[in-house]
Amino acid sequence: MTSIAETPEWRALQAHFARLRDVHLRDLFAGDAFRGETMTLEVEDLFLDYSKNRVTAETLRLLVALAERTGLRERVESMFTGRHINVTEDRPVLHVALRMPRAESLVVDGVDVAAQVHAVLDRMSEFSDRVRTREWEGFTGRPIRNVVNIGIGGSDLGPAMAYEALRDYSDRSMRFRFVSNVDGTDVWEATQDLDPAETLFIVSSKTFTTVETLTNATTARQWLLEGRQGLHEPAAVARHFVAVSTDAQKVADFGIDPTNMFEFWDWVGGRYSYDSAIGLSLMIAIGPDRFRSMLDGFHAIDVHFRTAPLARNMPVLLGLLGVWYGDFFGTETQAILPYSQYLSELSSYLQQLDMESNGKHVRLDGSQVEVQTGPVVWGTPGTNGQHAYYQLIHQGTKLIPCDFVGFVRPSHLLGRHHDLLMANFFAQTEALAFGKSPEEVEAEDTPPPLVPHKVMPGNHPTNTILATELSPKVLGELIALYEHRVFTMGTIWGINSFDQWGVELGKTLATRIVTEVESEREPDLTHDSSTNALIRRYRRARR
Ligand code: F6P
Repeated sequence: MTSIAETPEWRALQAHFARLRDVHLRDLFAGDAFRGETMTLEVEDLFLDYSKNRVTAETLRLLVALAERTGLRERVESMFTGRHINVTEDRPVLHVALRMPRAESLVVDGVDVAAQVHAVLDRMSEFSDRVRTREWEGFTGRPIRNVVNIGIGGSDLGPAMAYEALRDYSDRSMRFRFVSNVDGTDVWEATQDLDPAETLFIVSSKTFTTVETLTNATTARQWLLEGRQGLHEPAAVARHFVAVSTDAQKVADFGIDPTNMFEFWDWVGGRYSYDSAIGLSLMIAIGPDRFRSMLDGFHAIDVHFRTAPLARNMPVLLGLLGVWYGDFFGTETQAILPYSQYLSELSSYLQQLDMESNGKHVRLDGSQVEVQTGPVVWGTPGTNGQHAYYQLIHQGTKLIPCDFVGFVRPSHLLGRHHDLLMANFFAQTEALAFGKSPEEVEAEDTPPPLVPHKVMPGNHPTNTILATELSPKVLGELIALYEHRVFTMGTIWGINSFDQWGVELGKTLATRIVTEVESEREPDLTHDSSTNALIRRYRRARR
């Protein structure tokens, strides 16, 4: 593969960057009175203002040319039509099929995957309704009031984020919890105040081999069968455990009746899976109709991504801006700052989506990637961050591109809260872009020694995503937007955004070390001197 950095399109961007790197957003806005209106895009319920980016129309033209050079359009088609674009695992990448309308079909490798999706959605809907209406009873005939999802990574972060985001649409008479960490504290805290007779566990694991999930599920099963409330018979497991997986045999081996398993498929990546059966806990919380409305939101953005011209394509624009900052300005992180308390888990979710997808150092053909790939993604809901780390974004020495995500309509109309929240939302992007010059600081009669401290350099780039309201449909739109942004960036870099080999070594070593840690006899340690000494110290102290 030709290195992207050697293409004329990349070189043109480098030359353009040399001219633009020191241009201030103040000057870009002064030079175009309509910039704040023209550099915007509205798709479905999402309005994007990208005017406060350090770009001109020429930058965008060059970035789109780069996208064309990398064959983005063709690669999008390859994904949507089920070609095996996940080359290292020889699989199609079809999370977009999870939200296809019932009337459509998509035959991949001889199977109508859309029909498979709807068959599982129907089973999930039926089961969710039975739990929500209390028709599905626990082993002793008590209704289910607590649902605990046990999973990790993509089998946890998506449902946990979306449950939190849509808590306002959830059945408030039920409790929903998410257990992921192999630290026993997690499962202990999630269960210690629950009544086992009223608790349903959803064991979510694509592979059903993940040690954290199987360990937590085993502990949960022991907790269930401890004998409280007359629950000691293994038959109780069938009423209190269901599974979500691609592997029916492993589910059965674990002791969960495969008729209580909700299926998904190899072509759904873990971090792209919460709109599959992995979202079962969410569906029980918000109900099947709202879950389907969320899928409609995803689908609407899928259609836009597939069909809109690159220059007017929201995920493409966001992806290209990400490449512009990471590869030309040399930024290393991307802040996502949602102005909604309900989106408190969004950045954790997006961390996996982006960093597990695009944290790669080689290209599709195995050759070294010669440019910088995926950013470190981070953030917390506004306005909390303003009183914590925004100082560094405003006046530190690092350039941090930020996405501000806000909503026109409040989730709760309480006094002035929403207007205050949104006033801060608008104020921050204005302050970041335009800052405060020395002249402006001096004009406030600031003592001269304080002037440099009070100067705000500005020129910090932001995207503003202003959505209508945080509904299931809009959440689907937002998540699809970020999924396709990740895809766009991965395509530009020529990497495989759909594997995750980097997580394997740590897993293998942990498997080896756990036997050494637990061994009765002093183990023969052959690690490096640091790891050996740490294990010995732990073993001594633990005794
Ligand atoms: O951390 C690696 C990973 O494979 C993720 O990609 C995945 O989401 C997570 O582990 C959980 O995997 P599973 O759903 O198979 O338990």
